[in-house]
Amino acid sequence: MEPVQIAPGVYNVGVRDWNIRDFHGYSTDLGTTYNAFLVMDEKIALIDSVKKQFADQLIDNIAAIVDPRRIDVVVSNHTELDHSGSLARIMHRVGEDKPLVCSKLGAKNLARHFPQKWNYRAVGSGEELKLGKRTLAFLETRMIHWPDSMFSYLKEDGILFSSDGFGQHYAGPETFDDEIGDRIMVHARKYFANILLLYATHIEKLIRQVAEMNLDLRMICPDHGVIWRRDPGKIVQAYLTWCRQEPGKKAAVIYDTMWHSTEKMAEAINAGIMATGVPSKPMNLRSWHRSEVMTEVFDARAVVVGSPTLNNSLFPTVADFLCYMKGLKPKNKLGAAFGSYGWSGEAVKMIEGELTDMKIELIQPGLRTQFVPEKAILDACHEFGRKIGQAVLAGPDAGARAAV
Ligand code: FEO
Repeated sequence: MEPVQIAPGVYNVGVRDWNIRDFHGYSTDLGTTYNAFLVMDEKIALIDSVKKQFADQLIDNIAAIVDPRRIDVVVSNHTELDHSGSLARIMHRVGEDKPLVCSKLGAKNLARHFPQKWNYRAVGSGEELKLGKRTLAFLETRMIHWPDSMFSYLKEDGILFSSDGFGQHYAGPETFDDEIGDRIMVHARKYFANILLLYATHIEKLIRQVAEMNLDLRMICPDHGVIWRRDPGKIVQAYLTWCRQEPGKKAAVIYDTMWHSTEKMAEAINAGIMATGVPSKPMNLRSWHRSEVMTEVFDARAVVVGSPTLNNSLFPTVADFLCYMKGLKPKNKLGAAFGSYGWSGEAVKMIEGELTDMKIELIQPGLRTQFVPEKAILDACHEFGRKIGQAVLAGPDAGARAAV
């Protein structure tokens, strides 16, 4: 990726990671980007860096604009290694004694990643750095996505450098949201559901605080994906909606299967749900990546989980998904469990235990069948699904809002 001027004197010097398919357990089917920004003024600032293996590309991109040694200050909005992995190379090129601006926790966390004694300049919310005609203002944004995270705001240009906030794991030819259109929202939503959902309450509070500051927001530049310039307010509004976690009238049937018995149950339950008019999708965990399933769960009211019993326990993919979902703490869900077994049949109770731990209200007792489900059992599964559909219909509907 060559550097792109995103505003007069402001460049995206980041890189595209076209081929990454697994980003710490998140499926990145279209790759991602690590955006980094160069602000040219009397002082030159570099905001964020990129993953370690792309350091050369970042340095080449900077060098296409200015000799890296002329950079006066490096800003690290977030310590995670997709944004700081090439910091050692960058600081070596820029000058080890140059100021490295970050949050107080950023200074601590960077020091736990890098042994170099850099010239850390820890800043807090409201502190500013004059670059010349332009000013960078800093805002601590803990847990978007680590405790060290902060945003940097280029006041005179109305540009917010938002690190992980408002990002999308998407690599394409586009630089800006208006070049891809609403198709980008699918990626922004998946990113929120899998990276930020856990912090939704906190994020909502933070966005409301920022809204009270009445910032002139002309562009939002996340460190992943495209830049929001057509209507930055749109992604901010979408985040406010997503933070509320108001589910739509839909369900997801999530399962794995050994000899297709649990799968037959899943299909019958799904058909029962759909017979009530509630959209639902059966998702086999060996076909669907956990992060795709979580995106489906995000705006579903009912989460229906099925597992065969394997060695007196859950099937491993189901245990994996439940562990993943539990960590993200989805709210406002109903649930139910089902599964087939050979002789002991513990899995359904174990799923119910996990759902209850997640404060997911169980619609009805779990449904088990021994070995292959016969017609009577499949009819019972269909009825089980109908009850789930009716429970979904009986609840509030966020409808289109949930599906933004
Ligand atoms: Fe893109 Fe939390 O790093």
